[in-house]
Amino acid sequence: MCGIVGIIGNKNAGYKILQGLKDLEYRGYDSAGIATISKDELQIKKSVGKIAALEDAFLNAPLKGSIGIGHTRWATHGVPSINNAHPHVDCTGKIAVVHNGIIENFVSIRKLLIKEGHRFISESDTEVLAHLIEKFYNGNIERAVKEALMLVKGTYAIAVVCAQEPDKIIIARQQSPLVIGIIKKGSYIVASDVTPISKLTDRVIYISDNEMAILSSSGHHIVKISDLSRDVVKKIERIDWELEDSEKGRYKHFMLKEINEQPKIVKDIIFSHVIKKKGSVKFGGLESIWKNDEKDISGSTGIDYLLNASRIIIFGCGTSWHSGLIGEYAIENLAGLPVEVEYASEARYRNLCITKNDMVFAISQSGETADTLMAIKEAKRKGAVTFGLVNVVGSTIAREVSGGIYLHAGPEIGVASTKAFTGQVIILALMAFLLGRHKGAISLDKGKRIIKALEKIPEQMQNIINNDGPVKRLANRLAKYSNFLYLGRTYNFPVALEGALKLKEISYIHAEGYPAAEMKHGPIALIDKNMPVVVVATDTEDEIYEKIISNIREIKSRKGIVVAVASEGNKSIKDIVDETIYIPRTEDFLMPVLSVIPLQLLAYHIAVKKGCNVDKPRNLAKSVTVE
Ligand code: G6P
Repeated sequence: MCGIVGIIGNKNAGYKILQGLKDLEYRGYDSAGIATISKDELQIKKSVGKIAALEDAFLNAPLKGSIGIGHTRWATHGVPSINNAHPHVDCTGKIAVVHNGIIENFVSIRKLLIKEGHRFISESDTEVLAHLIEKFYNGNIERAVKEALMLVKGTYAIAVVCAQEPDKIIIARQQSPLVIGIIKKGSYIVASDVTPISKLTDRVIYISDNEMAILSSSGHHIVKISDLSRDVVKKIERIDWELEDSEKGRYKHFMLKEINEQPKIVKDIIFSHVIKKKGSVKFGGLESIWKNDEKDISGSTGIDYLLNASRIIIFGCGTSWHSGLIGEYAIENLAGLPVEVEYASEARYRNLCITKNDMVFAISQSGETADTLMAIKEAKRKGAVTFGLVNVVGSTIAREVSGGIYLHAGPEIGVASTKAFTGQVIILALMAFLLGRHKGAISLDKGKRIIKALEKIPEQMQNIINNDGPVKRLANRLAKYSNFLYLGRTYNFPVALEGALKLKEISYIHAEGYPAAEMKHGPIALIDKNMPVVVVATDTEDEIYEKIISNIREIKSRKGIVVAVASEGNKSIKDIVDETIYIPRTEDFLMPVLSVIPLQLLAYHIAVKKGCNVDKPRNLAKSVTVE
């Protein structure tokens, strides 16, 4: 979604901002713009569509100045157009604003400002901010920004420059992320996430809600928006991402790079958490719990909370919701604890009867998804203890929860999540294992057996990735179809959902995931010779497997094309399906990290064959910071 970059203290501010905006392209956008200040005047360039257009305009006539702000816009209020693109300026052309979030009361403010004589040129909610700041401006930009923000309702991360004070960038935040990167004293980059920052510095300050920062050549100063005389002392933190983590390297697409990174990420997760001798695992992030910014001194660890909760409620959206479903099955099966998985967007508006005895576990790659964040806040309001499983260190969700676990999967740039999914699934599997050990449901011997299986997983993942050829051939064959069905049972049902999501996200082919047994309650009506059905049938020769085989026969009797993802050694399945992709076997609860890989690769190759923009699919955003 929308992205912000601001630079102060660099002769080539405009160019650096352009580079930063390119680093934010992965978030999804439809127009972009930059404003710099040169000789006490604002210079502005905007473009609709790809940043390349802005770059062309920039190369023809670079924006001068050592200070500026830029924005990638993902349209919410008004179509993508030059007028609607940020930065927005006031009537005097002296104040420029970029904004992520939504100003909910912009209609009434706009009416009032028009009555007062302000002229609006866009349909964007953000433009009211530029005019409000103008209204309150009398020589001190931070005070004018404060006055303006006091009147708005909604969510925002903003960056403001004013040609009359050409040595200052003002930033402020309410529920939309903002990070300051310190290059050196008086030289800063600000951005809505650390990706563009990590190329210039690893020293960052995360801005919290109700905070404003004034960045100038003499240093930075952070205050409360509601009280500019209240200084806020913030910790300077280090980003642990390397520069190459956010570059494609030898891969054609970020998605392919991220699929290939999975064995290493899963290996790092497994080896940093398992305790071989004890046949168990440990999670440092669950050892101490924070409630209302105070460390919980009762001595209870996160694991105690999870074991004693009346329910574990998992919140997530998109792919993170799918990994939550796998977590649910694993925790129920291995530890016998009650778990519910909710779409965060529904949970926050439903009267979900959460009590202080419930434990909420929020899953989010970005740590910024607005629905997940709001669901956490609602659960906290109802007294529940909240944990997070987050990839982006220092993100809003990571800071909002009482405790939690980081994936440490590095930046995920491809909009379609891959490595975050397998990282989430393996952590949830380890958590289920740990809870099972604590409950006594898993003996020491069994624990050691599970660890042996875990140790093999990275190599098994690698073998699937290396054996990509058959999946690519299959993709070439199937790319012409317009509808796909994905089926699976138990742990493979969420995998089927995830496989269908991957395909629709990046290839724009309509795909649905279903529990295999539900096929007879509707989807079977769709099956004919033009309907490929991907059946994740890695279950062993048990009752469930027999049922899946019956489903396959039902599809074949209706001339559907069946692609089976099956366990190595299952020779018989080949005779009843059209195509088989074999993968190695492991413990049932660990199977999803293996069975999802061919589905990721299938979606990837189909999208490439169709000529789609794999990393930045249309209409989608990587970090969904609005409702
Ligand atoms: C967007 C992304 C998805 C992601 C979902 C949840 O829709 O495109 O890939 O699964 O948001 O994001 P989160 O960062 O909370 O995991």
